Amino acid sequence: MNVLEAIRKRRTIRKFKAGEVPIDVLKELVDLARLAPSAANLQPMEFILVTEPAARESLFEKLAFGAYVKPKRNPGPESRPGAYIVSLWNRKKSDFAQWEVGAGLQNILLGAVEKGLGACWLGGIDRDGIREQLSIPRDVDVLAVIAVGQADEEPVLEERDDTIKYWLDPKDVLHVPKRSLSSVLYMESYKISR
Ligand SMILES: Cc1cc2nc3c(=O)[nH]c(=O)nc-3n(C[C@H](O)[C@H](O)[C@H](O)COP(=O)(O)O)c2cc1C
Repeated sequence: MNVLEAIRKRRTIRKFKAGEVPIDVLKELVDLARLAPSAANLQPMEFILVTEPAARESLFEKLAFGAYVKPKRNPGPESRPGAYIVSLWNRKKSDFAQWEVGAGLQNILLGAVEKGLGACWLGGIDRDGIREQLSIPRDVDVLAVIAVGQADEEPVLEERDDTIKYWLDPKDVLHVPKRSLSSVLYMESYKISR
């Protein structure tokens, strides 16, 4: 799979098959984030892998899955991710605005696609609770959690300008609207849309 295919294929996954994710695979995903662009090359992003079952369950309680389709994509015990990558920002390494987070985390998401895995970027998280659970010091920010596992759903992309809310159809298939290219692209000035 090339990078263009991975970008188009990637969808947020919130329903997983039972099973662990090999540590080597998780390490490789973090390694992809490590290689992302970084302002002044300060490389402040750090990561914690959470793989032990009890720790996973505790972390799960601090996450919020699928707000628009609550509670259906808040995975039950049989559908939970096999691992989590907790993404951190070490302010001792960089105090810049945290723009580069997206570059690092998208590398993880695309790497997961290439590895045949599903992933979900979780930003609606209990940061204080996660800090306490994982002994994260005060000068390190909790940015996001990436849930990783074997996908047990195949969301469908929809070109839609009339809604931003993903939805479930009667067969429990997730549909994800994306604004059309012509609604986000302007040519030469903000006046002419293509
Ligand atoms: C910064 C950020 C925070 C997000 N937080 C959550 C979250 O807390 N829970 C969740 O289920 N999905 C979360 N998502 C996933 C988005 O809902 C998802 O990317 C969006 O619906 C588009 O779907 P797609 O990723 O399949 O293109 C987050 C994504 C981003 C980029």
